[in-house]
Amino acid sequence: MRPVILNFGSCNIDHVYTVDAFVRPGETLSSRTYQTFPGGKGLNQSVAIVQAGGACSHIGRIGRDGEWLKGMLHSLGINTDFLTVSTEPTGHAIIQVTPDGENAIITHGGANHTTTQSEIDSALETTKDTDFVLIQNEIKNVSYIIESAKKRGLQVAFNAAPINNGVEGYPLDALDLLFLNETEAEQLSRTRGTAEIIRALARKLPETKLIITLGGDGSIYHYKDETLKQIAIDTDQIVDTTGAGDAFVGTFLAHLIKSGIPRKALVEAAKASAECISRKGATILSEIT
Ligand code: RIB
Repeated sequence: MRPVILNFGSCNIDHVYTVDAFVRPGETLSSRTYQTFPGGKGLNQSVAIVQAGGACSHIGRIGRDGEWLKGMLHSLGINTDFLTVSTEPTGHAIIQVTPDGENAIITHGGANHTTTQSEIDSALETTKDTDFVLIQNEIKNVSYIIESAKKRGLQVAFNAAPINNGVEGYPLDALDLLFLNETEAEQLSRTRGTAEIIRALARKLPETKLIITLGGDGSIYHYKDETLKQIAIDTDQIVDTTGAGDAFVGTFLAHLIKSGIPRKALVEAAKASAECISRKGATILSEIT
């Protein structure tokens, strides 16, 4: 049986406004277009995992207004048995996208913040030894998930996005894989410059595979004596950069599990990010509203 990635992550309704420039303090801005999309870093990662041929179970919470997100994930072959309905509204994001595809995002956690430890335990009880746990930082109980998964001998990957001050208090040294973008990597390592950042993080987390995304400058994988660099893949048009990091994470993990070859995982993840930014919406599938 294929290993399953248990993805403990957010599901959001993304409200996307295309604007000529980001709204400034005190300004009222009329958007050119408005659309809603499925989103949330967790959901975007789950979609990327199955698009890359991985098996995924999405664990989290939505509100009644988000049941269509559950239907969408289910229709893609993602196990939604542990995606439950809360009395809180579904998490959501207000996203401005400029003509060059840049974004500015405000999120509200809503139901994403209501998953209980007993729901986490129930999902982990279904695992077999070869399964993986993936977590991102739009949910609560991150330390509990890491510790409970490690007690069961599972491999754990963490995407530190969106980073906050709580991240440094998580048991990061227990992680098998840690995904960071450049800003997050600078914050965690308290230094600057890719080489210096990697040295500092590798000293702090010697048993963790580090994957750092650098936007247009590509990505880096580092573990023990191996450092691999991957250039970003060119795309004809940059429409919307939202979710590019999530597509990268889900695709990388699915391919690493499938092939065991970090270089292959980096290449496929770079392709997935390029695909994601060439379309509207945060999932690699985009255009579903
Ligand atoms: O990473 C992009 C995601 O961040 C969006 O889908 C939005 O919902 C926020 O969670």
